[in-house]
Amino acid sequence: MSERDELRLSQRIDDYLEDLFVPKDPVFAETLAEMDRNGLPGINVSANEGQLIYMLTKLSGARKVLEVGTLGAYSTIWIARALPPEGRVITLEYSPKHAEVARRNLERAGLSDLVEVRVGAGLDTLPKIAAAGEGPFDLFFIDADKTNYPGYLDWALKLSRPGSLILSDNLLRNGSVMNAGQPGSDESNDIIAGYNRQLATDPRLESIIIPLSRGHVDGLGVSIVKS
Ligand code: SAH
Ligand code: DHB
Ligand code: MG
Repeated sequence: MSERDELRLSQRIDDYLEDLFVPKDPVFAETLAEMDRNGLPGINVSANEGQLIYMLTKLSGARKVLEVGTLGAYSTIWIARALPPEGRVITLEYSPKHAEVARRNLERAGLSDLVEVRVGAGLDTLPKIAAAGEGPFDLFFIDADKTNYPGYLDWALKLSRPGSLILSDNLLRNGSVMNAGQPGSDESNDIIAGYNRQLATDPRLESIIIPLSRGHVDGLGVSIVKS
């Protein structure tokens, strides 16, 4: 099969799975439309990845969640919907404009009481969360600037308990992580390759990366904090 046909097939499979398994809900369509109207980039998780993080959140029984990288709150809504009524999400976003769109989307989704959007650089906000004793969190979703992933993981570990789940988006980058350190590899790529090695070898973690394909292949890291 040609590369073009393989791309088309992986896109068709993604559409097939979405049609089969992902509930059609106007809240998600409106969330994406609001992002588009405000010029936010379409770099949210896919519907299938949303369904996957929703199921992982439910399976883990999480009540307190910390997300790094809100964008328009598309992934946040998937996660928040998997929580029990007393659940709570803190989501960190650098861009005030993204945060404003996210708050509108959360309001429309009826999730404003459950989710708090905090504006600032993740690495500035995380120490404040720790200092205020707001941890431990049951689940983390790391999905902001790729070069700071190792820093976000350090804070997630500090703010976790044994059994906490750490999810990390964009760990395969269409396979380019396998070319880390070679000519043409960029900084994010090299850092994510090191991050993946840490997920595999850090004695505090048990991990796997799930490849997710929709034309382009990316990966969701799933890590459990060991007891
Ligand atoms: N989780 C979202 C997508 C996040 S995209 C979803 O799937 O729906 C990455 C987001 O991280 C962008 O909104 C970007 O503004 C934000 N970001 C970039 N650098 C950041 C930083 N240093 N701290 C916090 N957020 C950051
Ligand atoms: C980018 C960021 C993401 O979180 C993502 O899922 C895809 C792309 C980016 O910065 O290009
Ligand atoms: Mg992402």
